[in-house]
Amino acid sequence: MNKTIILERRPVGKPQLTDFKTTNDERPQIGPGEILLKTSYVSVDPYLRGRMSDAKSYAVPFQLHQPISSGVIAEVTESNLSGFSKGDFVSGLLQWKEYQKSDGLGLLKVDPSKAPLSAYLGVLGMTGLTAYLGLTEIGKPVKGETLVVSGAAGAVGSVVGQIGKILGCSVIGIAGTDEKVELLKSKYGFDGGINYNATTDMKKAIADLCPDGVDIYFDNVGGNISDGVLANINKFARLIICGSISVYNETTIPMGPRVEPLLIKNSALMQGFIVGNYAGKFPEAMQQLSTWLKEGLLTYSETITEGFDHIPQAFIGLFEGKNNGKMIVKTEQNNN
Ligand SMILES: NC(=O)c1ccc[n+]([C@@H]2O[C@H](COP(=O)([O-])OP(=O)(O)OC[C@H]3O[C@@H](n4cnc5c(N)ncnc54)[C@H](OP(=O)(O)O)[C@@H]3O)[C@@H](O)[C@H]2O)c1
Repeated sequence: MNKTIILERRPVGKPQLTDFKTTNDERPQIGPGEILLKTSYVSVDPYLRGRMSDAKSYAVPFQLHQPISSGVIAEVTESNLSGFSKGDFVSGLLQWKEYQKSDGLGLLKVDPSKAPLSAYLGVLGMTGLTAYLGLTEIGKPVKGETLVVSGAAGAVGSVVGQIGKILGCSVIGIAGTDEKVELLKSKYGFDGGINYNATTDMKKAIADLCPDGVDIYFDNVGGNISDGVLANINKFARLIICGSISVYNETTIPMGPRVEPLLIKNSALMQGFIVGNYAGKFPEAMQQLSTWLKEGLLTYSETITEGFDHIPQAFIGLFEGKNNGKMIVKTEQNNN
């Protein structure tokens, strides 16, 4: 049989398990020019929340009662397509199905001998590319500058902070627990960190840790946290607006302070970022990330949930801060 996870209803507020449903069908048969794929690892990502609503955005909404899709690593189990052999592993935007067929379009072969398969969903996948391209293309770090990262212990944030250190910045991260803040410093080499859940005055907390002000802000969360950071920006600061997870579940977007005077006063750049806009730079970014990994300058964490059925729970966990680094589901459960 072949399980599929569909969007049963559009979430209102924080997603619930009842917003998803698992169906069971026959395994597909492949025809000429097709391959059969067995899902190995599934990426769950905050941006999928936007696709679960029917509001217009940069990515088309998921259809109700239809399979959800995201970044997936899959194994080729049958092939009628030249260039793909049984036993190959591929990455691509695929459906939340145990088995699915494909004509190979949009799939990228990945090599398990070069890196663990799950890394192609994180540091060597979409979130690593986001970190590298957002920081270098918009942040344009200069040695000695101060970089602040929100969502700092997550997949994107933890890589942003490390790249900031490689490029010579002083790096401060913001995360949701003391344990995560400790990890920022001990594992990723951040210079300091703030637990936003234990901080009542973010403006002051940033001022205390960034005595020279903030030159670059890599924003993964938006909302009140970002208001506190923005109050500390320097002249010619660059603000990379990558994500706003703190408001993804809001039914009405909360009002914050007006930012225009701050931007004018500081001649600052605030720019929205979508990684797909930089597709032409993926090969060079991937090359750089792989090199840093090989050289030991870059490290990464993964929170891996086991079992295909647990994909929705892992996705919901993103909004509860359950992950360190990249949140991934390994479809097969290890019963050892
Ligand atoms: N623009 C793009 O092209 C692009 C690409 C990839 C990702 N993104 C965005 O980048 C951000 C990070 O993505 P990711 O994949 O790396 O996810 P992630 O950071 O690995 O996971 C989400 C993290 O967000 C934090 N969080 C959850 N609710 C929060 C809240 N209300 N306030 C503050 N923090 C909250 C949690 O950490 P704590 O324990 O610290 O709260 C959680 O672990 C997301 O906003 C995502 O949408 C954008």
